Amino acid sequence: MKRVALLLFFSLSTVLISAQTTNVSKMNRFLDSLIRLMTLEEKIGQMNQYSSDFAATGPITKDGDKQTQVRKGMIGSYLNVTGAERTRSLQEIAMQSRLKIPLLFGQDVIHGYRTIFPLPLAEAASWDMEAIELSARIAAIEASAAGIHWTFAPMVDISRDPRWGRVMEGAGEDPLLGSFIAKARVKGFQGNGFGYTDAVLACVKHFAAYGAAIGGRDYNSVDMSNRMLYETYLPPFKAAVDAGAATFMNSFNDLNGVPATGNRFLQRDILKGQWKFTGFVVSDWGSVGEMVNHGYAKDNYEAAMLAANAGSDMDMESRAYIQHLARLVKEGKVKMSVIDDAVRRILRKKYELGLFADPYKFSNVEREKQQWNNPQHLAAAKEIAAKSIVLLKNEKQLLPISKQTKKIALVGPLVKAVKEHLGFWSYDWDDDSVRVPSLYQAVQNKVGSNTQLLYAKGCELTDTSREGFAEAVTTASNADVVVIYVGETRNMSGEAKSRSNIHIPGVQEELIKAVAATGKPVVVLIAAGRPLVFNWTAENVPAILYTWWLGTKGADAIADVLFGDYNPSGKLPMTFPRSEGQIPIYYNHYNTGRPAKSETDVNYVSAYTDLVNSPQYPFGFGLSYTNFQYSEIQLNKFSLKPGETLTATVTVTNNGNFDGEEVVQLYIRDITGSVVRPVKELKAFQKIKLKKGEHKQVQFMLTANDLRFYNDKLQYMYEPGEFHLFIGGNSRDAKHVKFELKK
Ligand code: GLC
Repeated sequence: MKRVALLLFFSLSTVLISAQTTNVSKMNRFLDSLIRLMTLEEKIGQMNQYSSDFAATGPITKDGDKQTQVRKGMIGSYLNVTGAERTRSLQEIAMQSRLKIPLLFGQDVIHGYRTIFPLPLAEAASWDMEAIELSARIAAIEASAAGIHWTFAPMVDISRDPRWGRVMEGAGEDPLLGSFIAKARVKGFQGNGFGYTDAVLACVKHFAAYGAAIGGRDYNSVDMSNRMLYETYLPPFKAAVDAGAATFMNSFNDLNGVPATGNRFLQRDILKGQWKFTGFVVSDWGSVGEMVNHGYAKDNYEAAMLAANAGSDMDMESRAYIQHLARLVKEGKVKMSVIDDAVRRILRKKYELGLFADPYKFSNVEREKQQWNNPQHLAAAKEIAAKSIVLLKNEKQLLPISKQTKKIALVGPLVKAVKEHLGFWSYDWDDDSVRVPSLYQAVQNKVGSNTQLLYAKGCELTDTSREGFAEAVTTASNADVVVIYVGETRNMSGEAKSRSNIHIPGVQEELIKAVAATGKPVVVLIAAGRPLVFNWTAENVPAILYTWWLGTKGADAIADVLFGDYNPSGKLPMTFPRSEGQIPIYYNHYNTGRPAKSETDVNYVSAYTDLVNSPQYPFGFGLSYTNFQYSEIQLNKFSLKPGETLTATVTVTNNGNFDGEEVVQLYIRDITGSVVRPVKELKAFQKIKLKKGEHKQVQFMLTANDLRFYNDKLQYMYEPGEFHLFIGGNSRDAKHVKFELKK
């Protein structure tokens, strides 16, 4: 009920905000006349984006007086300029330029701005598209109130490698889940359309296949078949285009030998050609100039030529365009039509936002203040945070903890952490100490006055001192139940944060062992922006919650789950390996010619001889405080003809002691194909609520089109033959039936 009210509030508020729907022919006449007036230098200025000097999200180049360049129309966009006042003052300078073309202000609003939401990978664990859209909607409302027109989000990079620190920013390993989430985030950011002052341009990134960097090493090379590209890595980008995404950002990696920034196949053939994308593409930070490092361009002059001709419309921070494009055009190496197309794409977005009509419409100090402490935003952030928590283990129903427990020990280096909850790609605010509770404070607010809270830090997050262990053990020994809160620092997952070792850092797992040795019941909370390896804990601790980094109200959400005020419903959006040696490990793998017949089979099969053949936790896995029982699958038919609909029905029963939510997942397996097919492919899911004792029929409809894949000629088609269909609460434990697709 609460969320419906919240959504109603947001939709009403947007309706009340003055809106402009773009009159396309009027806009085109305006743009035609403006572009005719522009000099070549002014056109190139629109293709040039600089970061402010006070907030860097990449290697800063300090040069020249940027305000003079703005006055001369040599800068079309800024990033890292925020605040109604600051954006207004820069806009005033732009209004002194000859043609008074407004600046476009971009910002990395990845998971919230004033109110920080869970990391995107955490939100993906909620599998709740409405909640994810609301999160992006609130981020847009707050960011636009701070003068921001454009967010560099959603990041939709599929990744199967948790060594890559940027998995925290995406939606995990699955193309279908990633596509649904891409759409939800684009819709959330862009709201009811441009012209509303609470809608910002989305920027889908990083195009493309950045998450497949070799070794999980950020910025590294990607080499894959076009079939793999189309089958696994492109779908979320296409879903974002279909959702109306305004802009794209290309990626740092080279793809099959060609850097994405200079990749005509990606940017012109696929994005602007096949997908008919009419927005613009911004390079990633300096990626135009970095083609020299790649060895793809001799110098920035050649890099500018390659990038512009390949469809990169705006140059973020490399200065290659502003320094070389005019000469390239005069020398005929870049056609004026390429420049005009890029400029039109950029100016069209400025027009659609209404910036030509009112350059200051987003820079409204009063509106900024209104959004500064909106309690509804905080309530929404806490709600999706709770939904993002994944219950990995709960032996003997140790969780939830009773609020009447006499003595609870809170142990670990994160118990009193505050800013850590915000995670990477977030914003620190002066009043965080008031707005962002620590776990200790959140638990204190939750338990009754007759509960005594004991505390010991035990160790630091990353160093190797064990000096605090004794105190932690003593503290735990005096308690009825122990909650140990461990994990990464907020900045251990994120950009340029690849880790070769993804165990829980430092001596934290040793701390868990020492405390567990007291024999007291132990609950472990693990905070990270990626899947971590924690085999001892997984095998020896009775209760484990994976809490990611959950944002401003993250600790409150964790307390809600710990004490049963919210029954955890999260499901893993990525496979959790037992070892870095297993990576890449993912659920939708091919069967191979010698699949292992069991977890321990090593007899001439595809397996490691020193580790069992399974992940620690599979894709889609997550428990509940209650129990969900699945009936056998009923099909309306066992042979399906093209044009017909296959209906698969299961009855899910909540036969536990708590009301709860379950993500019912449907997978298929195409047993034989003209190219090999994955052993499972997520094809649909439904998140349902069931009161204790309640049961519900869950129905899925599939047609032949849902069984399509890219064959070796890149034709997207289905093939007749035998299929297996699976329905369950994760990608491993599921009921299954067979059906046949006829010609
Ligand atoms: C960074 C990131 C990109 C971000 C941009 C601007 O290097 O790769 O995701 O949007 O620069 O901060």
